[in-house]
Amino acid sequence: MERNLKELVAQMTLEEKAGMCSGLDFWHLKGVERLGIPSVMVSDGPHGLRKQDESGDHLGINDNIKAVCFPPAVLSACSFDRELMHTFGDAIGKEAQAQNLSVVLGPAVNIKRSPLCGRNFEYYSEDPYLAGETAAAFIDGVQTHHVGTSIKHFAANNQEFNRMSCSSDVDERTLREIYLPAFETAVKKAHPYTVMCSYNKINGTFASENPWLLTDVLRDEWGFEGYVMSDWGAVNERVEGLKAGLELEMPTSNGINDREIIAAVKDGSLDEAVLDRAVERILRIVFLYWDNREEQEFALEADHALAKKIAEESMVLLKNDNVLPLNKNEKIAVIGEFAVKPRFQGGGSSHINSFKISSLMDALKEYENVTYIKGFSADEDCYEETLAQEALNAAKSADKVVICAGLPDSFESEGYDRSHMHLPECQNRLIHEITAVQPETIVVLHNGSPVEMPWLSDVKGLLEAYLGGQAVGEAVADILFGNVNPSGKLAETIPYKLSDNPSYLSFGDGDHVTYNEGVFVGYRYYDAKEMPVAFPFGYGLSYTTFAYSNLTLDRNNVADEDTVTVTVDVTNTGSVKGKEIVQLYVSDLTGAARRPLRELKGYEKVSLKPGETKTVSFTLDYRSFAWYHTALHDWYAASGEYEIQIGASSRDIRLSEIVHLITKKLLPIQTHLNTTLGELLSDERTAKYGLKLKKKMDAFFGGGAESDENSKGAEETTDEAVGDAMGDAIAFSMPMRGVLSFGLCTKEELQNMIDEMNQL
Ligand code: BGC
Repeated sequence: MERNLKELVAQMTLEEKAGMCSGLDFWHLKGVERLGIPSVMVSDGPHGLRKQDESGDHLGINDNIKAVCFPPAVLSACSFDRELMHTFGDAIGKEAQAQNLSVVLGPAVNIKRSPLCGRNFEYYSEDPYLAGETAAAFIDGVQTHHVGTSIKHFAANNQEFNRMSCSSDVDERTLREIYLPAFETAVKKAHPYTVMCSYNKINGTFASENPWLLTDVLRDEWGFEGYVMSDWGAVNERVEGLKAGLELEMPTSNGINDREIIAAVKDGSLDEAVLDRAVERILRIVFLYWDNREEQEFALEADHALAKKIAEESMVLLKNDNVLPLNKNEKIAVIGEFAVKPRFQGGGSSHINSFKISSLMDALKEYENVTYIKGFSADEDCYEETLAQEALNAAKSADKVVICAGLPDSFESEGYDRSHMHLPECQNRLIHEITAVQPETIVVLHNGSPVEMPWLSDVKGLLEAYLGGQAVGEAVADILFGNVNPSGKLAETIPYKLSDNPSYLSFGDGDHVTYNEGVFVGYRYYDAKEMPVAFPFGYGLSYTTFAYSNLTLDRNNVADEDTVTVTVDVTNTGSVKGKEIVQLYVSDLTGAARRPLRELKGYEKVSLKPGETKTVSFTLDYRSFAWYHTALHDWYAASGEYEIQIGASSRDIRLSEIVHLITKKLLPIQTHLNTTLGELLSDERTAKYGLKLKKKMDAFFGGGAESDENSKGAEETTDEAVGDAMGDAIAFSMPMRGVLSFGLCTKEELQNMIDEMNQL
């Protein structure tokens, strides 16, 4: 139905318009009955519906309707599968229609800056490209059903400590390259109906009243057309927020902030047109849903099956020394309470009231040779002699042992961060003891964020199940017994220890947290430092093997407007069907800026029968090569060479090829008396001025080997060589004004040069 929203807004009273800009209650927007504006409902969350029917309370977990808990983001991102994420979103969209929800509060795309963040289980990745692509596919799936998404938490919300007041102090380049692109990709590709701004400040300004973030970047640059809602309770100054681009306050300030808006319009400090525009934006989305309501069944069983599929496609096999898959005839001891009481989701606002849960032992009930021994409790860190002894006895008499380990609920949740990366000590101890008596040991991990693994070299198999959603047990069983070939890869690096992480010295600080590591987050840091890690980004094993060949580029010389098509053949060289995630990284060899060694710019998941070969194709554009240049306030790729790397993980590059890029983009010339001669010489437009000054310096200091006529042809002594090097170094780092100090030119001459250069 075509609606004239401007006309509708014109009919609303000031009170009704101000009222539209905050929630009616915890989960509803206000309606205006006399004008036919419905009161619609929103609900968490990213991996299933947390719908509270009556009065909402924030953590009223038990009041939620029975629903399906799909795998949280920490796991689903490991699928590296856009199509699967789209199907996932499609199912959530249908569920939301069945439950009369206008917007689903997700996906959550904040970057995993530290393994300690309590909400890492809700976030996709340490890599913005993967997070953005994954989110875009999910959003597109949900919105197929005209149910909105709310991509969150915008932006730089990377810790829970002081989350409602802390300022994330991040430089412009790092924001643009690491913390914003997942939002940018999703907004540009999938047009989320809403964006949820975060609680925290960014460089001192609350996200909820940040015009640069909510208007300049989100709307003007990226073209966002929906409405921005606040995270629950994130509003600081309501009127400032409205001006900055925050349309909807959630949940509600019980009329207090509505009255502030009314007063501001009346006293002229808020232009009513700003309010009208906000209301129009909210109404557009309300009616987009309302006018497209669908009859949908809440298909619990079908969605449980999808939850299982997503888990199977995402779990990551990290180690397999010929111990997996298991065979039904083998005598298997399954140890650890997680086998009957799985941890499959995190705590907080995304917590789903699952209509059913399948544990590993539920899934294995038909398997006659499998026995369960508790060994340790899933809820606490307590080593119990009797339980441990039973486990050891069972381990000795079994052919193989599967230990279901993981983090208890209390170890990680929304609202607080972890203080360490350890598993409960009782589990580490029991794993050590079991591997001493039973070498054929496999560990299955249930955790929302990486853990240290002091027993890693002692176990033969390791499956990272992360938080698997309510069908976790079925997925783990199918992978362990080879009914499903694992195909997930890590969406984050697993470091050996917490102190290896780049944010270690500046995570969770008081009022301001400074992102000192800049763009060197996750593998960008570990690779640059050549640091050994337990498992690298993009890593994951299969029960088959893959070979890469025939890397081809449709062009090697690239201009700004060109795209490059990259193709590579992948062959299944093993004996079972499997899926490989092929990754494309770009490495900047120009030396124009300090950049990560490689950055993910493409990935594809391909399914192959034994012996089968498929060609995988990627498209790169200028942005794929670029970094964010703060003098340009734009993306910039310098002219020069770039390496295209095709890998099975970030540390397993199989093929590479060079491209030469020639850019027309010019950096602004902003020379001044403190510009160094080195800077002048490094830009071909200013080089002649640099050379002129350098010659004067060489004549004075005796530097510049090539220009030294007397030494031509003669052997240079060590002293002369050192003198030349030193003379050059001094000249390169000499500011233009320094030339004055040695009486080599006048200030006027220098100023003329500067004026000429700045007009180039
Ligand atoms: C969380 C959001 C969530 C909202 C509503 C907030 O505390 O940060 O992610 O969507 O509550 O439950």
